[in-house]
Amino acid sequence: MDGVTSTWVEPSGTGAALLLLGRGSDASAERGVECPGELPSPSDPDLVERATRAKAALGDRLFILGHHYQRDEVIQFADVTGDSFKLAREAAARPEAEFIVFCGVHFMAESADILTSDAQKVVLPDLGAGCSMADMAALPQVETAWELLEDADVAGSTVPVTYMNSSADIKGFVGRNHGVVCTSSNAKRALNWAFERGQRVLFLPDQHLGRNTAVLEMGFDLDDCVLYDPHKPGGGLTTKQLREAKMILWRGHCSVHGRFTKSCVDEVRMRVPGVNVLVHPECRYDVVTSADYVGSTEYIIKTLDAAPAGSAWAIGTELNLVRRLAHAHPDKQIMFLDRNVCYCSTMNRIDLPHLVWALEELAAGRLVNQITVDADTAHHARVALDQMLALP
Ligand code: 13P
Ligand code: SF4
Repeated sequence: MDGVTSTWVEPSGTGAALLLLGRGSDASAERGVECPGELPSPSDPDLVERATRAKAALGDRLFILGHHYQRDEVIQFADVTGDSFKLAREAAARPEAEFIVFCGVHFMAESADILTSDAQKVVLPDLGAGCSMADMAALPQVETAWELLEDADVAGSTVPVTYMNSSADIKGFVGRNHGVVCTSSNAKRALNWAFERGQRVLFLPDQHLGRNTAVLEMGFDLDDCVLYDPHKPGGGLTTKQLREAKMILWRGHCSVHGRFTKSCVDEVRMRVPGVNVLVHPECRYDVVTSADYVGSTEYIIKTLDAAPAGSAWAIGTELNLVRRLAHAHPDKQIMFLDRNVCYCSTMNRIDLPHLVWALEELAAGRLVNQITVDADTAHHARVALDQMLALP
C-alpha cells in the first residue's frame, strides 16, 4: 500500500503532564514511595552509552524484563519483552540472575520477587511506577467484601480470582482462600478452573476483564454479573444479589483502557473504511463488543504480525506499544483508536535516567529500589500464582 509509512499520526495533546519523574507518590498506595537518589539529567547525551556500559559491567548477574508498554528508550535494554504473563514466567525461569531489573510497574515487580529465590533481588527503577487499577482494591476492602459473602453464607461456594494487576497482599488473600491469579492471556482458563471449584467468582480488581471474559468467552449473561462497589455500604448489593450472582465484579478499571469509548470505534470506522478494530480486554464491554478482535498485548502483537500487508488497524491499548507496532509494520496502516494521548502515566515513569541510575548503582555494588514481599504474603500469593502458571 503506497504511503502507509506516513499514516501514523501522533495523537494530539501533550504527555508532559504525565511524565513527572519521582514525584507525588503515595506511601500507602500500591505504587510505593518516592524514588531516592540523584538521577542523571534527561538531557545527558551519554545516557544510552552509560546504560550500555553499566549493563555490560553487570553481565550475567543482571536480567532486564520489559513490559510492552514501556518507552522505546527503556525497552531497547530489555533482555526479554512481554505481557505480564510472559514476564512472570520469564522471571520464574531465571534462577541464575542475581538482579532482575523490572521495567514495568510495581505489582509486576512484586510478582517477580514472589516467583524468584531469596538470593535474587528484584529492582524497580522508579518506585513511583504503580498502577491505578491495582490501587482500586485494598486488602481491608477485600476482606470486608469477603465477610459480607460469609454473612450471606456463600463464601464457601465463591472462588476469588484476581487479575495479575493487583498488589501482592490481594494475591495473598486469593491464595489463602483457594483462588487463582489470572492475566489477560489466560482469564478464560482461570475462570474455567474457578467454576470447576465453586458456584460463583469474586473477580478482582478489573470489572471489565471479568465481565468481558465471563460474557463473551464463557457464555454468561450480563445479568449473571453484579458490580461490587467498595465505597458503598454492603458493596451496593443486596444479600440476594450476592447469592444469585455468578460473577461478583470488583469496581475497578484501568485508567488507560477505560478511556476508549464506543464513539472512538464508530468514528474510526467512518474515517477508515474496512479498518480492523483490535482492543485489549481491559476496555469497556461496549468497546469490546463493537471491536473486531480482542486480546492481551501478546495477542495484539501476534495478530498484527500475521496481518496482510495493506490492511488497516485501529488499536485500543497503550500508546507506546501501538506506536512501536506502527513503526515495525510500515506496510500496514496502524493507528491509535483514540485521537487523544493515552500513555500509561505510571509505566512511563520508568525512563532512561531512572534505568541508568538503577544500573549504575547496582554496578557500583549498591542495591537500590529493591521490591520485597513479606514471607507470609509471598507464600500465599505464590500459591495463587503457581496455580495460574499450572492452568491447563
Ligand atoms: P497484559 O500485560 O496482561 O496484556 O496487561 C496489560 C496491562 O495493563 C499491564 O499493566
Ligand atoms: Fe495499570 Fe492500566 Fe497502566 Fe496497566 S495500563 S499499569 S492496568 S493503569
